Amino acid sequence: MTRQLWRLAALLLGVTSAAAQLICVPLVLCPELMEDPNTNLLGRDNACFLRDRSDGGLCVGDTSAGILSLDYLPPAKPTVDPADAARVRREDEPLRKRLRRYEQLIIDQKLPPDEVSDLVCEAEKQALRVESVVLKLALKDANLALPNSPEELQLLFAEPQGRVARALGLVAQLSAIMLAGLQKLGALFKVPPVDPVESNAAFSLPPPSDEVLEFGSLLLPNCTPLPVPECGDATLRYRTHDGSCNNLLRPRAGSANSQYSRYFPSEYADGVSEPRAAGAAGRPLPSARFVSAAIGNSNTADGEDGFRTIALTLFGQFVDHDVTSTPEFALEGEEDETDESAVPGIGFNCCHRNGSFPSKSLHPMACNPIRVPEDDPYFSLHGVNCISQVRSLPAPSEDCLARPLNQQNQITHYLDGSNIYGSSEAESTKLRAGTGGLISTTNPGRLLPRDEKRCARRAADCFVSGDHRAGENVGLAFVHLVWTREHNRVATFLAARHPDWDDERLYQEARRIVVGEYQHVVYNEFLPAILGYGYVRDRGLKAGDRARVAAYSADTMPTITTEFSSAAFRFGHSMVHDVFRLQSRSGRMWRLPLEETFFNSTHLQLRGIVGDLARSLTSQLPGRVDTTFSPALTQHLFAPTGKPGLDLIALNIQRGREHGLASYVTALENCVEHDVAGWDDFQPYMTAEAVEQLQAVYDDFRDVDLFVGGVSERRLSGSAVGTTFQCIIGEQFFDLRYSDRFFYDIRDQPNSFTVRQLEQLQRASFARILCDNVDGLNEMQQLAFFQPDFFLNKKQNCSDLAIPTIDLKPF
Ligand code: HEM
Ligand SMILES: *[C@@H]1O[C@H](CO)[C@@H](O)[C@H](O)[C@H]1NC(C)=O
Ligand SMILES: *[C@@H]1O[C@H](CO)[C@@H](O)[C@H](O)[C@H]1NC(C)=O
Ligand SMILES: *[C@@H]1O[C@H](CO)[C@@H](O)[C@H](O)[C@H]1NC(C)=O
Repeated sequence: MTRQLWRLAALLLGVTSAAAQLICVPLVLCPELMEDPNTNLLGRDNACFLRDRSDGGLCVGDTSAGILSLDYLPPAKPTVDPADAARVRREDEPLRKRLRRYEQLIIDQKLPPDEVSDLVCEAEKQALRVESVVLKLALKDANLALPNSPEELQLLFAEPQGRVARALGLVAQLSAIMLAGLQKLGALFKVPPVDPVESNAAFSLPPPSDEVLEFGSLLLPNCTPLPVPECGDATLRYRTHDGSCNNLLRPRAGSANSQYSRYFPSEYADGVSEPRAAGAAGRPLPSARFVSAAIGNSNTADGEDGFRTIALTLFGQFVDHDVTSTPEFALEGEEDETDESAVPGIGFNCCHRNGSFPSKSLHPMACNPIRVPEDDPYFSLHGVNCISQVRSLPAPSEDCLARPLNQQNQITHYLDGSNIYGSSEAESTKLRAGTGGLISTTNPGRLLPRDEKRCARRAADCFVSGDHRAGENVGLAFVHLVWTREHNRVATFLAARHPDWDDERLYQEARRIVVGEYQHVVYNEFLPAILGYGYVRDRGLKAGDRARVAAYSADTMPTITTEFSSAAFRFGHSMVHDVFRLQSRSGRMWRLPLEETFFNSTHLQLRGIVGDLARSLTSQLPGRVDTTFSPALTQHLFAPTGKPGLDLIALNIQRGREHGLASYVTALENCVEHDVAGWDDFQPYMTAEAVEQLQAVYDDFRDVDLFVGGVSERRLSGSAVGTTFQCIIGEQFFDLRYSDRFFYDIRDQPNSFTVRQLEQLQRASFARILCDNVDGLNEMQQLAFFQPDFFLNKKQNCSDLAIPTIDLKPF
């Protein structure tokens, strides 16, 4: 039965009738209403009143848990319609993933042992040479990044967060040299994809299949497998901070400092580690800056997204910073005797300081600068023909099998709030107050924890949180702040209720609850707003989907893929606005340019700004995901106002090539499951103008960079992104859900929430998080990622039933 018919039936029977299938609920309990925001949220047809006369929406049947709680009228228990039952049955079928992890192993062609030992010798010599050049670089000031320069802030963003990342990078570097040598000896060829499902190895990557082992895979010479963490009983109820031991069969899987994996084969220039540089026709790829400037000038873009809010953009960046952080090479900074984990790096500039492109690389391994064309529409006016990019730290082969390079993820891959709590025990300890289970906050102001050592390095960027990029812009810092306050709110409640719990117990229990609320917001509100409700429903991503809540699969890989981190989840860069339009409590409007806030969180201390940001984030329109970007990102990234800085879109493109990222065509073919043989085959997924624009930039359709192809696509109905990004992001969040032993709605695990607890977590919403944690905020729309002026999503008093509260008594 269609919605219209339901509605008719409800009218005939009277809404309160037990036979009616429509019940009146707060919007966050009915994500279906987001299916077509245009008609559902904007129209009056689904409006109704909750028991306290605040606004609700009419929702069909047994949609989600929590809906039956007695706060809401009418509390009719829906009977299941046959049509609906059929749908539920379909959802019960085994979920079919479209993408599996792709592994390339390098095959041993039975090289003579003395050739291999010569190679090891040569590689070690070369590594020593690199080390001595790097030492010299650190000593002389030649191309170090100047304080407060865009390149210094660039390092602040991508800095290795400790000794581990660097040590692993060094090991991987030696392997990379050997790989290149082996490749020259002709030892290498690629093999078919390996299905990860069969695995139970201790490592984060799937082990090779029998088919592959038959060929005889190649062990890297002189390589020691990484140690496997031991998992005690302590990991049964609470997550570890570094994500290890979530998967008990592969304890390292998804942990901090493990590598990204891939959905598609890598495409390195030399097959193993060199940035992709030439196109399919053999000519050099167009410069990343050339591509960025050319697509950004387009007339195919269509401006602002009139439905969503910038809370969605910044929450997206926050989510990204929970799951991916790729460290870059840096020179050794001064060691800190008192702090094991911290070794601040020294950033360097891969361009000459006068902006010219160096004729010889300024670092023996790590430089990958972007060439700016002579006739660039912006940078040429400032005498700049080079944009600095430092290469990402490679990851070592955990099991010593030879493979093309992967990069490191220095934070936990899981969606586990590591952006609030840190990705290591040491990091979390630094954030904690040490009493009452609390995270430390400033007094007065209840702002984020301060790190005085960080202040000493950069006075404007003192605040810290679970992820080191929290101060990247003030909107992002705000999102970190409200979740930190939510932790303290929950911990304070628990402390009053359980006087016998110590600091540790209170901290861990509050963390467990807050991560549950956060995961619910991600799956219930964020993903439908990004991917479209229909996709989320049909692909096993719907929150509170009863058919599936028990499904945990130790065979699902939790690792973030390079396609997700280096391209698809950067979609948000296209939504970024160049100015925060802030509104004070009294209604006064004021503007804060985004670029003034780059790593400058002094703004967070301005009087009243936390409330102003809450209002700004939930009312301002974001850009649409398309090929246009804010100049704050493409011209002034990390530069003081008005000055030339970096170009984030060029960096995205260059980064993809540097990571050996598969091209757009490979991704599209795998997502839609048929061949793409030429430009014409792009047509179903993008407009003719968009195809023409790409044709003007690239020689060959196979050359299109994944990020560029993705943002060129036509947005799908109800979704903020097109076919390929929807597919990659959707698959990744599928993996993040079913691979997580601590996922909040999982049943029958030692850590599972009780039914009563789960019912409360399923009432969590971003609107409630804001209402509860922003002083002086009295009203908010129910769906904070959507505009408040929709008829169904009007602002509500924070104390209304329309914005459900979470009852913490069951915890
Ligand atoms: C508000 C302004 C933002 C700024 C200034 C910014 C800046 C950056 C920078 C400098 C990088 C590294 C680029 C490189 O590869 O060299 C990056 C990476 C990334 N950004 Fe953003 N970003 C912003 C917003 C967002 C948003 C809204 C999203 C998603 C919704 C997002 C997702 C990502 C992801 C997934 C990465 C890769 C991170 C990694 O793997 O290390 N960013 N961003
Ligand atoms: C920029 O600086 C480099 C290194 O100091 C130098 O070789 C080059 O000639 C300079 N270029 C310009 C245009 O000044
Ligand atoms: C940070 O922002 C404040 C306020 O706008 C400004 O006075 C200060 O110079 C900025 N600091 C840096 C390092 O950008
Ligand atoms: C919100 O509701 C509370 C309690 O009913 C009331 O005291 C307050 O004035 C209301 N605020 C607004 C802005 O309507």
